[in-house]
Amino acid sequence: MRHAVATLSDVNTSDARRISVAQVLVYELRVRDAMSKPPITAAPTDTLRAVQNLMKARRISGVPISDGDNLLGLVSIEDIIRALDKGYIDDCVQQHMTRKVITLRDHFSLVRAVAEFDRHEFGRFPVLDGNDHLVGVLSRGDITGCLMQHLERRAEEALAHEAALRAERVANDTADRVVVRAHVRTGDYDSAGKLSQRMRQVLRERGVAPEIRRRAAVVAYEAETNIIIHSLGGEITATIDPDKVCIEAVDVGPGIENVEQAMQEGWSTAGRLPRELGFGAGMGLPNIKRCSDSLEIKSDSKHGTRLRSEIHLHKAGVST
Ligand SMILES: Nc1ncnc2c1ncn2[C@@H]1O[C@H](COP(=O)(O)OP(=O)(O)OP(=O)(O)O)[C@@H](O)[C@H]1O
Ligand SMILES: [Mg+2]
Repeated sequence: MRHAVATLSDVNTSDARRISVAQVLVYELRVRDAMSKPPITAAPTDTLRAVQNLMKARRISGVPISDGDNLLGLVSIEDIIRALDKGYIDDCVQQHMTRKVITLRDHFSLVRAVAEFDRHEFGRFPVLDGNDHLVGVLSRGDITGCLMQHLERRAEEALAHEAALRAERVANDTADRVVVRAHVRTGDYDSAGKLSQRMRQVLRERGVAPEIRRRAAVVAYEAETNIIIHSLGGEITATIDPDKVCIEAVDVGPGIENVEQAMQEGWSTAGRLPRELGFGAGMGLPNIKRCSDSLEIKSDSKHGTRLRSEIHLHKAGVST
């Protein structure tokens, strides 16, 4: 999941361990949460001038062309400028629209969407659902707007819980162990992040510093997705003690052939489907290492993979 932390690689180690709220949100939020919907579209038989007027009226710089539910092409502001320049602004859209349009799927994570914006330098992408129907349009501004909205909500929640958290922190010193466990099935992409969310809830209730909660969330999320993508299934457990959280991910194989190699940034054996879903940047294990205070990975083809990460609680900005 390169984009969640890629920008951190060139800062110093203690900064590199800081995971912002926004970085966790882009793991959790989907394209469908951020996109503008319903999409503002034009028909293939409309004129380019009509599209120009639509862009002006709605203050947008690209318009998907559709016949009802199906995406046929796209007209961007650059196409309009060219039409004005060359004198064919009164032609039909279908004569000049871009037909090979790069699209996003509504279930993609925002991490994946950000990667597409960086890769293609387009201002917007039409969004298709599982039936290939055009359901929205996503721009960088939509992503920022969605993040701002969620950050605001989180901030409000944080204020509302502040007093309660202070009380929890006192009780925390004698808090018992809480164990959160989830079975993880291979290929079950939709469940990714469930354990991570439950664990963060417990950590929040215990008044653990946000920065440490986020590190634990990244470890749990990356370990969980590795079981989903690379293994035959397994289990992930977060054991939360007053002074530490221990995240253990155990699966039944096929194991990691060369752990040292797998720990390198960019190393991935992920196949086509996980890559299409936004995984496979080879950043999971390096992120886990960066976020852990101690990390142990045991793997062989007979017993599968066992990953154990420990994160100290109540100590912000620890560096190893
Ligand atoms: N539980 C596992 N079982 C088998 N192989 C694994 C497991 N976890 C990781 N690997 C191997 O280690 C490689 C690197 O893992 P890492 O999490 O760093 O990257 P990725 O999962 O391929 O991509 P990303 O995490 O960025 O989506 C994987 O491609 C896979 O070959
Ligand atoms: Mg991974």
